[in-house]
Amino acid sequence: PITTELDAQSRLIVGGCQLSKLAECYGTPLYVLDEATLRAACQSYRGALQRHYPGPSLPIYASKANSSLMMSSLVASEGFGLDVVSAGELLTALKGGVPGDCIVLHGNNKSDQELLLAYRNGVTIVADNQHDLDRLSQLVPVGADPANLMLRFTPGIECHTHEYIRTGHLDSKFGFDPDQLESVLNQLLGCRWARLTGLHAHIGSQIFELEPHQDLADVMAGALQLARRLGHPVMDLNVGGGLGVRYVSSDDPPSIDNWVKVVAEAVNQACRSRNLDLPRLMCEPGRSLVAAAGVTLYRVGSRKTIPGLRTYLSVDGGMSDNPRPITYQSLYTACLADRPLDSPDETITLVGKHCESGDVLLKDLALPYASSGEVLVVFATGAYNVSMSSNYNRIPRPAAVLVHSGHSELVQRREQPEDLLRYDVMPERFVALG
Ligand code: LLP
Repeated sequence: PITTELDAQSRLIVGGCQLSKLAECYGTPLYVLDEATLRAACQSYRGALQRHYPGPSLPIYASKANSSLMMSSLVASEGFGLDVVSAGELLTALKGGVPGDCIVLHGNNKSDQELLLAYRNGVTIVADNQHDLDRLSQLVPVGADPANLMLRFTPGIECHTHEYIRTGHLDSKFGFDPDQLESVLNQLLGCRWARLTGLHAHIGSQIFELEPHQDLADVMAGALQLARRLGHPVMDLNVGGGLGVRYVSSDDPPSIDNWVKVVAEAVNQACRSRNLDLPRLMCEPGRSLVAAAGVTLYRVGSRKTIPGLRTYLSVDGGMSDNPRPITYQSLYTACLADRPLDSPDETITLVGKHCESGDVLLKDLALPYASSGEVLVVFATGAYNVSMSSNYNRIPRPAAVLVHSGHSELVQRREQPEDLLRYDVMPERFVALG
């Protein structure tokens, strides 16, 4: 989790930077990422893989959680590969300095442009369905190097998480059905346009249980055995991501070390019991790498008290910079940046500024009486916030800064209202009407 400190006046500090100062310098809403927390999470994954898995391993960052040039470069410098799911994420990874052969491309409906960009940069393509294979067989020029390919299949594993972020059950849009696996593997034998390097499965996200990951290891070892028996010298086994994080105090996820230990031991055991040489173990964490490292700063604005019912306290952002509460009923915690220790005076409903009643960031938040202009911090917003942000109501996206040892650096400029007009085109005849 992120380390917060207090200065002599009991104001909150992250990465050596006073949060309300950052709000003053960069404006609000503001995404703040703590470099030390990010690097510590990367090192936990790397260290745990090395400690708990006797074979080779490679952690891969699921960049959908928070994709930027800085993030690409930071995780690559920690020895991570990158998982991308679109030309946009792929370009961000490449421009961020990640070598193509450390990138894997996912997606259940990749365009020809995305497949070609990946192929030309030596990116491993994770085939999700027959359409991917058909397109690739057309796109790879005759006589050229084959594409590096992994196969994603649906492992048929249920887990307890929000239905929108479950992917391992059989009725999922992602991956080949397990019943199709054998015929797909046969189809790929000796083909000129692809070299099968590995198998992939992912069961879902924000998962606290360990058993589904153990079950997955067994299912995947079975698939590995099948692939090798059919004649594919498959070396990579990618077990996906999914480790949950603590958003509120009642959340109790396993530690990174414990998750990796259980997964690594399960893969090791499932392979040994089948007499399989150990594959290279890959995992794809997103949320557990970045969520805790991020906080969002807002300024408090208006309030509305309905006597006997509720007080709505508004901030200057909302569902456009954090769509998770309205999308998944996600819970967060928050406090005032300069008065984190003051005892609460009231319980409020924290709302955003969007024209939508569901634009509620936090329900039942106990706070000291917050005046207009005070800075409020929402915790654990590093994952799936900036990457899922929108311009709903034509509200510009916030800036993002990285903090480290008392320094702050801009990593994403604040959008300006004019930026939002950049792609609007006024048809000539409307202009003529003046
Ligand atoms: N690998 C694959 C193939 C994935 O689809 C995902 C997430 C991950 C890895 C990373 O999973 P993580 O370690 O972050 O759980 N927007 C949702 C989460 C969607 C996750 C989609 N796939 C949310 O805000 O909760």
